[in-house]
Amino acid sequence: MGLLKGKYAIITGAASARGLGKATAKLFAEHGATVAILDLDADAARAAAADLGPDHIGLACNVTDKAACDAAMAELEKRWSRVDVLVNNAGITQPLKIMDIGPSNYDAVLDVNLRGTLYMSQAVIPAMRSQKSGSIVNLSSVSAQRGGGIFGGPHYSAAKAGVLGLTKAMARELAPSNIRVNAICPGFIATDITAGKLTPEMLETIIEGIPMGRAGEASDVAGCALFLASDLAAYCTGTEVDVNGGSLIH
Ligand SMILES: NC(=O)c1ccc[n+]([C@@H]2O[C@H](COP(=O)([O-])OP(=O)(O)OC[C@H]3O[C@@H](n4cnc5c(N)ncnc54)[C@H](O)[C@@H]3O)[C@@H](O)[C@H]2O)c1
Repeated sequence: MGLLKGKYAIITGAASARGLGKATAKLFAEHGATVAILDLDADAARAAAADLGPDHIGLACNVTDKAACDAAMAELEKRWSRVDVLVNNAGITQPLKIMDIGPSNYDAVLDVNLRGTLYMSQAVIPAMRSQKSGSIVNLSSVSAQRGGGIFGGPHYSAAKAGVLGLTKAMARELAPSNIRVNAICPGFIATDITAGKLTPEMLETIIEGIPMGRAGEASDVAGCALFLASDLAAYCTGTEVDVNGGSLIH
């Protein structure tokens, strides 16, 4: 224990009780990090932070809004001397077929997953550059690698593939400043992102395609995020790490 002792970490979209962000926040706090949970609703973010213990912070921040990302970072800089880790976890998905993706679907899914990852990274990079260290962990998806086929539509695959490209380009550009940037590609993890739209038949088909024979747990992804955030991963940058129970072996 104590892999993030004395470190300060920001996790977006971490108010969702059964979500990957919350599980990651909990594990980071257990490993000694001070955590800021950013999410759409201020009360939900504060409640999630309070769950972790007294020193953690919950702030409202819509990651699609550049000014909101900058304001959240400015608020944290008043309270923290540094920021060591950013986990770009906020994301949404929609189970649409190609011809059913309308302009508003495209905007919503691309904006939260991809634009949000860019804006929040831009908010923390100046501080990480000046302290000459940092770790950014981006949530992509197996959908980016295998062309969907789990739950999200083609626009979600495209957004998450965009996250992979952004991750690798940021890793290259920021490496001289000792800022590492990596992506996690989870397979199917049981959370609330499917918003009640996952039928028992869909679930059965998904499980059949997983060699390990089970859905992932949020803690499975949190463990990977902890590794990438910590100094254990000191020489890892630009990687995409699969957390998928073998559902895509490549
Ligand atoms: N659950 C899976 O199977 C799975 C698989 C692959 C990738 N992912 C990715 O992992 C991440 C977390 O997913 P989850 O399953 O925990 O989802 P979730 O729905 O449980 O949590 C997502 C959180 O993001 C927040 N959010 C949405 N829009 C936001 C915005 N504009 N600004 C700030 N916060 C916003 C929501 O309020 C919510 O708290 C997402 O990026 C998702 O695409 C999930």
